[in-house]
Amino acid sequence: MSHAELDQTAKSILIENDQGGYTIPTKGLYPYQWNWDSVFVALGFATFDQDRAWREVEMLFEGQWRDGMVPHILFRKDDPSYFPGPSVWGTDGGPIPSSGHSQPPVAATVIRDLVNADPSGKALERAAGLLPNLMNWHRWYLTYRDPKGQGVLAVIHPWESGRDNLPDWDEALRAVEVKDIGPYERKDTSHVDPAMRPHKEDYDRYLSIMAACRSVDWDPAEVARTCPFFVADPGVTFIFLRANRDLLALAEQLGKAEEAEEIRGWISRMEAGARTLWHEDLKAHVGVDQRSGKMTDGISSAAFLAPYAGLTGAETLGALQTHFDRIAGKVRYLMPSYDPDHQSYEPLRYWRGPVWAMINYMIARGFAEAGDQLRAEKLRADTADLIATSGFAEYFSPETGVGAGGGTFSWTAAIWLAWASPSHSQQAA
Ligand code: GLC
Repeated sequence: MSHAELDQTAKSILIENDQGGYTIPTKGLYPYQWNWDSVFVALGFATFDQDRAWREVEMLFEGQWRDGMVPHILFRKDDPSYFPGPSVWGTDGGPIPSSGHSQPPVAATVIRDLVNADPSGKALERAAGLLPNLMNWHRWYLTYRDPKGQGVLAVIHPWESGRDNLPDWDEALRAVEVKDIGPYERKDTSHVDPAMRPHKEDYDRYLSIMAACRSVDWDPAEVARTCPFFVADPGVTFIFLRANRDLLALAEQLGKAEEAEEIRGWISRMEAGARTLWHEDLKAHVGVDQRSGKMTDGISSAAFLAPYAGLTGAETLGALQTHFDRIAGKVRYLMPSYDPDHQSYEPLRYWRGPVWAMINYMIARGFAEAGDQLRAEKLRADTADLIATSGFAEYFSPETGVGAGGGTFSWTAAIWLAWASPSHSQQAA
């Protein structure tokens, strides 16, 4: 397929997965609106329909909870092909049935991109409408996912990280007691090969965490205090730090001095906190189990998001470039979700090795902003090759490039349109 044909296919995937203002990640496996999927999808729509891009993000915020949280899934209509559905979550925090925790807050960054892409000023007006929502969501993150003010954000469930099955969660997850779950039937393994999905022992614990949070009615302060899983994550932390920089730029552009001042405080707090995730021996940022105090021992693709977060000090950048080149020498396609030299690496099991297009996009953006165009371009070219060879899959093997998980995937299509497609970079040049 030519690049122009791939552009066309990517557009039709977004249009096909559009449910009337919001987009599902893929039919069957993920039949609802997912938080960060929608935000990346907006970038894709913005390449051919700005209004539709805004609609996507606005519909996500329609599901914002009273306490400020923006849920990871909005269950706008019941779909029996997905488990766990709304009745298992048992939440009551917002206007739309939803899951009970959030997902990485990329929204402020993408909203700023949408504003920058529209010189007419209309986009800025729409951004003004969402500014209070963004402020509340970010405040919620700081209050309930960093209750001690350490400048790092924890996730209360592996799914909150968006990198669901990462080896970083293994030890903390094993410490979760399996209880209050009853018999259940998974649906994911009927859509895709079980060899690529989490094991049953993991699923039991995913559901046990949900049961524990349900027992405190998803009260965020209680969840922060008692949830059996509470792990500081470099992924969410870096994405949030970056999002705050973009939110600050938006607040300044909109003349919101008070908000801007508040956000500046958040940025300093997060910059200081991020340092505590630095693993001296590994020379990379890792997770920290807030319950046991233990650091995780592997390098995930999120470590490479430090420059995206604006952390471009020589030591950090140099160490990441060394890791980058070492990993590039091991696998054909970057960036594997977990270090191929780590014992937990598996090239095709979900988040334990495979490559995701939108992670590559964010890493490349950070590297380019830090002045490392070469490595940024390697990421773009690898992403383009993967898609050209294997189609718009959910994720890809870093070794063979084979596509896996769900097919006709929205965020893969969106990232192609917004960044990876060579025709896009030709237009931009
Ligand atoms: C999986 C991914 C998550 C994503 C969702 C929908 O759960 O781990 O990041 O949002 O699928 O694509």
